[in-house]
Amino acid sequence: MNQTRREMLEKCVALGAVTLATSASLSAIARAWDTAEAKRQPTPFCELGPFYKRDAPHVSVLRAPGDPGMPLSVAGIVYSVNGEILPNAKLEIWQTDNFGHYDNAGYRFRTTIQPDPKSNYGFESVLPGHYPARVCQHVHYLVTAPGHKPLTTQLYFASDPVFDGDPDKNFSRDPLITSRELVRPVMLKGDPQQMVAAVTFDIVLEKA
Ligand SMILES: [Fe+2]
Repeated sequence: MNQTRREMLEKCVALGAVTLATSASLSAIARAWDTAEAKRQPTPFCELGPFYKRDAPHVSVLRAPGDPGMPLSVAGIVYSVNGEILPNAKLEIWQTDNFGHYDNAGYRFRTTIQPDPKSNYGFESVLPGHYPARVCQHVHYLVTAPGHKPLTTQLYFASDPVFDGDPDKNFSRDPLITSRELVRPVMLKGDPQQMVAAVTFDIVLEKA
């Protein structure tokens, strides 16, 4: 990317389309440009809720064989607002089962995840159910990383029937959804006998 941008800048300068009124090198300019573009908006806050339990086990497969519900596969990357990856982050994630029940006695559908060295995280689960106190299906996150502000948020699904197929218009039907950004597209993968709802949810943390 840097190389391409530097070459493009060199070409512009050579053609007279860009005039440099700075002593910075073309490489430094290209690098600064890339960095500016890499800045990301922090993931919006959404409340913690009453069902958080600390010290969930480190598991990436939350669904057990025979668990009812649509299999769910969530993946993403943890970034800082500067676009740096944060492989030292810790993600605590919890959700209901297919029937809208939290396991408050044990740790079903609860996990603690460390991203890989490239800051990718992921887990396999089922789509959470609806429960009476909440309007929409959701997965809770508490994400921490050294030097960054802790983030409490929730992941929602564009496929949730509550949205009537139009989350742009209807996301505020759940008063706890603070941002449309938290409602993620759902891609159905696999053959009809073994469909999986695949969702991407990147996390962006603010500096402390
Ligand atoms: Fe909840």
